[in-house]
Amino acid sequence: MFDTTYDDCWLRYERVDDSKLAPYRERLSHAYVSEGAPELGAVRAELRRGLEGMLGRELHLWQHPPRSVDSFLVIGHPEEMRPIHQTIDPDEVWDLHEDGYVIRTVEWEGHECTVVTAPSDRGLVYGTFHLLRRVALGEPIDDLDVVEEPANNSRIINHWDNPFRRSVERGYAGQSIFDWERLPDVRERYYDYARLLASVGINGVVPNNVNTGIPSRPTANDAVSERAGWQLLERDNLEKLEALASVFRRYGIRIYLSVNYAAPIKLGGLETADPHDSEVRQWWQDKVDEIYEIIPDFGGFLVKADSEGQPGPYDYDRSHAEGANVLGEAFEGHDGRVWWRAFVYSEHDDRAVQAYEAFEHIDGEFHDKVTVQIKNGPIDFQQREPVSTLFGAMPETNLGCELQLTGEYTGQGVHATSHIPMWKEVLEFDTYADGEGTPVKDVLAERDGQGIAGVGIVGEDPSWTGNHLLQSNLYGFARLCWDPDLESETIIEEWARQTFGRDEEVVDTVSEILLDSWQACIDYHTGGLGLMHMMYNGEEALENHYDPGPEEWPEYIGATADGIGVDRTSEGSGYAAQYRDPITERYDDPETCPEELLLFFHHLPWEYELEDGRTVIQTLYDNCYAGVEEVRELRAKWESLEGVVDERRHRHVAERFDEHVLQARRWRDRLCEYFYEHSGVPDEKGRVPQA
Ligand code: GCU
Repeated sequence: MFDTTYDDCWLRYERVDDSKLAPYRERLSHAYVSEGAPELGAVRAELRRGLEGMLGRELHLWQHPPRSVDSFLVIGHPEEMRPIHQTIDPDEVWDLHEDGYVIRTVEWEGHECTVVTAPSDRGLVYGTFHLLRRVALGEPIDDLDVVEEPANNSRIINHWDNPFRRSVERGYAGQSIFDWERLPDVRERYYDYARLLASVGINGVVPNNVNTGIPSRPTANDAVSERAGWQLLERDNLEKLEALASVFRRYGIRIYLSVNYAAPIKLGGLETADPHDSEVRQWWQDKVDEIYEIIPDFGGFLVKADSEGQPGPYDYDRSHAEGANVLGEAFEGHDGRVWWRAFVYSEHDDRAVQAYEAFEHIDGEFHDKVTVQIKNGPIDFQQREPVSTLFGAMPETNLGCELQLTGEYTGQGVHATSHIPMWKEVLEFDTYADGEGTPVKDVLAERDGQGIAGVGIVGEDPSWTGNHLLQSNLYGFARLCWDPDLESETIIEEWARQTFGRDEEVVDTVSEILLDSWQACIDYHTGGLGLMHMMYNGEEALENHYDPGPEEWPEYIGATADGIGVDRTSEGSGYAAQYRDPITERYDDPETCPEELLLFFHHLPWEYELEDGRTVIQTLYDNCYAGVEEVRELRAKWESLEGVVDERRHRHVAERFDEHVLQARRWRDRLCEYFYEHSGVPDEKGRVPQA
């Protein structure tokens, strides 16, 4: 089934060393697996593939307990199979979160059984992947007692893929994997993508871009291909969507859709999309009912409204709550919901304050079937941003956090920038929403209708992600959605081990590279004191977000003859005042504001002295230079693995590191030049040319 023209990422299932094989073979050569649901078919196929790969011998699948062997694996729901319900209290399992599972070593009628059991079919998929991961990581399985439940109910990938056109907005790994022209024919790649996602607990996929108005490129001989994302709500496209859903369903993943707020007009022929109009209400209701007839486990809608040219409730003078609720109501009686994005801004003195201004005052007004999806920071997936004020400001609303897997501002598909430490910082940030000790991760995990969404990273590239090392961002995103308490080191190490084999030198080196990559990215892209948004956006390279272009963004940088940074204190744009105390207080004062966010919150003199005695300008120069050295070090570490990592992947990543170093230098030189132009203060170390 598996197409080897593309990489198998962390599901390589490499053969276990001979010296370590015996205990795994003893316990996992025979399996008694429940039948019925499509997910169980996926479980069996994965067991075959994984265990046969790792243990190097055929797996015997039984339809009853194999009494002739000492040990076997049992997978099923509690009441279904005697070795399970005679050894594990079914209530323990039924009481779990529906995506949870138990893996336990038990004694049953003289046999040693490794039991995987769960309250849902999806839980059995997750439990199976967990067991396979243990083997892949070389962990013991002789005395297992694992009880797992996800912290977040919804763990969703948002694809910014333009259907039919097959381009991916902010995608750096080739074309979209979703081929809408050929659907309902399904590709092997869908199965493999679903396997990757399910192996780390993702349970939802939105296959189309939030910008639903982008038309496909018409082809010479195919008039029908002139279609846009909003048209996926048409019946024939919903049937295509069901074909996609049928693949993902086998892996417990539900399909969602990005929809256009003006769909009642565009598609329904109505004159308005005003949420107070009864025909509009009826139209959405009928549409949602129709979808559930075709796709019974449909996950829901994702909506970008009143943002960057998309239509929305503001077109009718309605609030976001009024706008979202008409869709939310249509999901009453269905097991799905609306993810309504808070990425809303317009021309304004400070973009950072705007989402809060649009949403905070309508906390409590959203329908229970609506989740407000908030980007991690107030600007736009920058290399580092403060955490959005909205997470601490809407206690009466279902909230979701939106993270970005694709490297829009972190070196795209080229630079090996791990986002895992950044996400960890976001999730651990204390909002003080319910007093001290209310980190974002707890705010999100509190209610059923909440969760985490991530802007996708995969494309047709054989590596899936443009750079083999960036597969770790897909893996790490999902692991954090499941368990935000996991440490970055743990996640990266387990990814590296499964992806590059068990050689400790490789695991350690790859882990070091990824753990250090984020700070390097911040240093050469920003100078490390909280500046951001300095990317080239010129027309010739339409919004490339890759090359330096600080001169294009004076309002984000605040560079003047006397200083740099933007005053976002309570006295300035007021952004800092949107936090709860004591955060406001901490950010308001340059003495207590964390240095890495200093110039995000303050406009300070170039020669303002920092804690270590260096000035702002000198620190910016130094950090830019340090950033390049850091990237050189990452490259050297990778080079040291030549001959240890297989040649194909080694060369692929090495080529990208060469470009990474060049690009870091380009950034350093442009930023330092820019800082010098505005400050007129020379670099004490004489590195920055004084043209
Ligand atoms: C950024 C990004 C856009 C995207 C937008 C969004 O502005 O550059 O490509 O559409 O975010 O999140 O909606």
